[in-house]
Amino acid sequence: MKGEALPPPFRLVAYETIGSTNDELKRLARDGAGEGLVVIAERQTAGRGRRGRAWVSPLGNLYSSTLVRPDCRAASAAQLGFVAALGVSGAIGEVAPHVATCCKWPNDLLANGKKVSGILLETEMVAGDRPDFVIVGVGVNLASSPRDTPYPATSLAEEGAPGIAPAEMAAAFIRHFAVWLATWRNAGFAPIREAWLTRAMGLGEPVQVRLERDTLDGRFLDLDEDGALLLGQPDGRRRIAAGEIFPARAA
Ligand code: BTN
Repeated sequence: MKGEALPPPFRLVAYETIGSTNDELKRLARDGAGEGLVVIAERQTAGRGRRGRAWVSPLGNLYSSTLVRPDCRAASAAQLGFVAALGVSGAIGEVAPHVATCCKWPNDLLANGKKVSGILLETEMVAGDRPDFVIVGVGVNLASSPRDTPYPATSLAEEGAPGIAPAEMAAAFIRHFAVWLATWRNAGFAPIREAWLTRAMGLGEPVQVRLERDTLDGRFLDLDEDGALLLGQPDGRRRIAAGEIFPARAA
């Protein structure tokens, strides 16, 4: 990536075609790679999304994985998904300032209400409850987006910002992610939570949350101190650690 200075300790390894950037970075991390290594690829042949879904990965979009070695418990490591979402939000604000984005719980980015970016965190543990490393996998639809997805998808090109190169987006993401990562390390989750909430889709509104086996309706009240969603229901508030949020079903 010529001319794109990255803040230390971030450095890039770029591939043309790879199975999954997350898998490649996991291999490098097991071999002892240090924090800040970023793997990007032009295409993935086995890109993975959350909930075991495939992440279709044609030429033109960003596929990146960033290695973090946090010194914290697993529950806190999950907060890195929000750190990454703020990084993507800042990067899109920089390279495509006219595109309106918001954060969709837990870790997606929407552009004009459609999914433009997804984040897949993968953790490997050492003894007990402490992650050895966290792989922060980020996909951003720059040139194209898939059809027939559970949540409607878009790309920056479709939203009026064509011609953004994956390398440009990668550099912008890393710069913004580096700032938010330092904030998280120095000040904890509170400022991350606060910044994420100011960008959140559906806060205070009726939403539907799809869990593994169940679908819940309620009001999106807040995030708790671990990043779980607090859903207001007629019989009280419910804490949801993992799921997917959708606008409320029409009454
Ligand atoms: C999701 O929203 O389901 C998460 C999608 C994460 C996709 C990225 S693309 C780069 C990295 N490598 C992968 O195989 N997945 C992540």
